[in-house]
Amino acid sequence: MSSFHVRGAARPLIGELTVPGDKSIGHRAVIFASLATGRSRVRGLSAGEDNRRTVAAFRALGVTISDEDRELLIDGKGIDNLSAPAGDLDCGNSGTTMRLLAGVLASRPFTSRLIGDRYLEARPMKRVAEPLTRMGARITGRTNDNPLDMFAPLEITGGALRGIEHRSPHASAQVKSAVLLAGLAAEGITRVVEPARSRDHTERMLRAQGAPLVIDAQGAITLDPSGWDRVLAPLDVVVPGDLSSAAFLLGAAAIVPGSVVTVRGVGVNPTRTGLIDALTAMGVALSVEPVGEAAGEPLADITVWGSPLQGAVIGGELAVRAIDELPLLAALAAHARGQTRITGARELRVKESDRIAGTVALLRALGVAVEELDDGMVIEGAPLEGKSAGVKGGVIDSHGDHRIAMAGVVAALFATGPSRIDDIANVATSFPGFLTTLQHMGAEVVSTRDG
Ligand code: S3P
Repeated sequence: MSSFHVRGAARPLIGELTVPGDKSIGHRAVIFASLATGRSRVRGLSAGEDNRRTVAAFRALGVTISDEDRELLIDGKGIDNLSAPAGDLDCGNSGTTMRLLAGVLASRPFTSRLIGDRYLEARPMKRVAEPLTRMGARITGRTNDNPLDMFAPLEITGGALRGIEHRSPHASAQVKSAVLLAGLAAEGITRVVEPARSRDHTERMLRAQGAPLVIDAQGAITLDPSGWDRVLAPLDVVVPGDLSSAAFLLGAAAIVPGSVVTVRGVGVNPTRTGLIDALTAMGVALSVEPVGEAAGEPLADITVWGSPLQGAVIGGELAVRAIDELPLLAALAAHARGQTRITGARELRVKESDRIAGTVALLRALGVAVEELDDGMVIEGAPLEGKSAGVKGGVIDSHGDHRIAMAGVVAALFATGPSRIDDIANVATSFPGFLTTLQHMGAEVVSTRDG
């Protein structure tokens, strides 16, 4: 098993950096380019394993994708020309790959089997299987020990689909995207209504390709294909830097006094910027300088200065807009003065791991007082000031979850003693280069591999 070792009591972190391409936008660029008619060019795709899984899956479905000098050329086959794969489609650790592929395969007239690693095969899939089945696909999976849900491996036999209205109980961009992808090939109107607005990369990219999507003031999305030739235009996009990866570097800078870190060219789509609002609420000094657009998404250079942090309340729509950053924000809250309350984040329980349980355990391992809630947690900050002993070091188990591992490293950086973070191999799914980037900023972190 691989581990990170963090020395603690970090010196100021300094740097001007970039991060790998946005994982969510990268998946979509590969998928929508594969369904387009003609050749697309995608630059800046992350080398992370999750995006690679999507590329491999579309190659297995007959799409020619060349990959040279960090530039992908994708010869899209159109919405209805994918070929049956010769074997299982292995989605690895990537929920986005599996759920969006399910939407694509729902209309294809062949049977395919989607598999994943043990973490992905423990994640709920009924949320996509149910609407796709209602549209006309046949999907079977495992029940594990939960007969109310469905789990991968999924076997999907696609066919003629009809549009539906899907009132999703979850604010989930993966579910929304799966239904819209199926809707591209369905007869009639497809409509998705969400309880809160999830990330809208799918809507932006499909509209740019000419798909007839209409979004109303409440955020409900309607896809009405009548009069549309069902042709998606090819893409020529540069994937923005991933705010969800930049978050760990910016968060590290925030807790270490005297730090100044700038991450350049980061995507700041407003459905994703809950992190920036939460950092601001915690008293972090930061600047967000707009620097144009890429892939139809706003870009910015973001600078954070090491700051005395204060506790904050993070819930509702803010929690949805910061969903992947909540473990990191909890790590920062450990170093803040006062209490931080995170609520409205039940979805964290079904991410790559149960991130509420994992984050609570990581904070307790570092000696921080935290109460676990059904949909979040309450953290009693222990900043190093006055008589406070600060956050201590400890041993953290990341349970194979990349974001728990990286949040653990950040929490440990300014702890008063050393820490070890175990089971970190999956950091490569989203942020290859995390360790070297942190070291470049001056952090004393190393990795080891035993056994
Ligand atoms: C993603 C959507 C979110 C997010 C995940 C990526 C996407 O999941 O947590 O990391 O690319 O659509 P849900 O849609 O399940 O909330």
